[in-house]
Amino acid sequence: MCGIVGAVSERDVQGILLEGLRRLEYRGYDSAGMAVLGGNGEISRAREVGKVAALSEVLVQTPNHGTTGIAHTRWATHGQPSKLNAHPHMSGDRLAIVHNGIIENYQELRDQLRGDGFEFTSQTDTEVVAHLIERYFRTTGDLFKAVQQAISELRGAFALAVLHADEPDHVVVCREGSPLVIGVGIGENFIASDQLALLPVTDRFMFLEEGDMADIRTNSIKIWDRDNHPVERKVTRFEHSMDSADKGEYRHYMLKEIYEQPRVIQATMEGRVTSSKVLEQALGTDAGQLLESIRHVQIIACGTSYHAGMVARYWIEDLAGIPCSVEVASEFRYRKHVIQPDTLFLCISQSGETADTLAALRQAKKAGFRAALAICNVPGSSLVRESDLVIMTQAGPEIGVASTKAFTTQLTALLLFTIALARHNGLSEEREAELVTALRALPGQVEAALALDEAIAELSSAFMDKNHSLFLGRGALFPVALEGALKLKEISYIHAEAYPAGELKHGPLALVDSEMPVVTVAPNNDLLEKLKSNLEEVRARGGELFVFADGESDLASEPGVHVMQIPAVHPITAPIVYTIPLQLLSYHVAVLKGTDVDQPRNLAKSVTVE
Ligand code: G6P
Repeated sequence: MCGIVGAVSERDVQGILLEGLRRLEYRGYDSAGMAVLGGNGEISRAREVGKVAALSEVLVQTPNHGTTGIAHTRWATHGQPSKLNAHPHMSGDRLAIVHNGIIENYQELRDQLRGDGFEFTSQTDTEVVAHLIERYFRTTGDLFKAVQQAISELRGAFALAVLHADEPDHVVVCREGSPLVIGVGIGENFIASDQLALLPVTDRFMFLEEGDMADIRTNSIKIWDRDNHPVERKVTRFEHSMDSADKGEYRHYMLKEIYEQPRVIQATMEGRVTSSKVLEQALGTDAGQLLESIRHVQIIACGTSYHAGMVARYWIEDLAGIPCSVEVASEFRYRKHVIQPDTLFLCISQSGETADTLAALRQAKKAGFRAALAICNVPGSSLVRESDLVIMTQAGPEIGVASTKAFTTQLTALLLFTIALARHNGLSEEREAELVTALRALPGQVEAALALDEAIAELSSAFMDKNHSLFLGRGALFPVALEGALKLKEISYIHAEAYPAGELKHGPLALVDSEMPVVTVAPNNDLLEKLKSNLEEVRARGGELFVFADGESDLASEPGVHVMQIPAVHPITAPIVYTIPLQLLSYHVAVLKGTDVDQPRNLAKSVTVE
């Protein structure tokens, strides 16, 4: 999705902006651009289709030097990816703007502005905002007032950063539905859509609230709320180590993030468990009271986070005996609901900025849920700020678009939550101690699963020339199969479908032949015998099987059946451990196919528009 970076400084900002854009690349984009106000009082702008590296090359030839600038990575919504549609957009040659989000009434405004004599050079909704602000600037002669008046006419979601050559040394920004953070420096200040972009220049951040506008200068940051009252926003320090945004010795961020899992799962448990108990207070000071009152759980999420929610449903109903529903946010937000009394609304999101998940949360807050709990990886994100209770995952920045460590830390947090909830619903001390022991064993077991890396790399060549694949699992391993299939399609572009193994005979079996590899996660649990019958059904149709199982599953390799053994694990934590080999499989298939592993085509890390 689109990314914004901006700087007001006493030094040259081109390098800061370029590095910021590089750090936003992981979000997914199709073009990049930058506008800088130079010492000559003129704005110079550069825009390129494709990677930030292409923009950087252009800037080597023709530098954009200056002390105030804004930059952008664009992910096309209105108008195709092209140089003309790339941001920053300008009105004349004095005003430049970058924008994240969508302006819903842009067509109507465009017609009006055309009538006023403004000429359009792009198909974007953003250019409309540029001209609208310029129109008000002509009457007010004040950039802040002009932005304020212009945004009162906008419908939709947006974060904007605007600079004007007639008002050097400051940038005006606002936030309405799209994230924007201010980076606080010394003798310089910055803005970005994601704090990660600014880590090389500061670790102190102010998060704008919905409806906030701000005037950013080298030595001052002034913020006004929606009602035009001056407000202070708290300065917070960035907690994750800066190294997390570095690929280090790894070829791809995704591989690095897969390998970080033992550590980040451990970090997600830290301070939240003793040797035999989950510390409920670690989930929030009032967590105990809330958990006691919960009779239902409604989980909402998108993408990989939705799969984490699906696993949690099995856990919540099994361990806490409380009914749990799971739905993708984009469906939930557009239908009527029957809300049972005392239902907890639980959002899961790596970024905390996914537009559909946030919209669902905002609806839920008006709809009569008991409370809203967020499981999230980004401190200070909208989801975190708008929820009643938060459990932070400790995955650190996840850069690869295909989510890996965020998923397994979400599962870890969800299991902690489930155990705490179950304690209020009859979970015995012995059972809790057994589950906590299983949780504490996870980092070591995930490490052991990672040791299969080389063997899985060899196996992956079998998928190279395939166009389709099928993933099977039963029980809580079915969502793991879904997640495995999602990973494969996201980064290798092989069509992958996941089915609960028992459904095989109701359709997908018709597709099975030697061209359709079938991947299965088969730990030794009470569904194993049933799963084995399903695997026989595949073998009988000539399907090639790739089975991840433990030593106790009693499955052996034979022609057409490849069994990879992973250590025996507790049935409750099996979904977390069995995720690892599927991540590695998709990674190696993608590497063999030569795709862009960290930034797969058409996808974005953080989907901040609907
Ligand atoms: C995008 C990402 C996925 C992610 C999903 C939900 O589609 O590419 O990796 O699972 O958004 O994102 P969230 O940040 O809400 O977990």
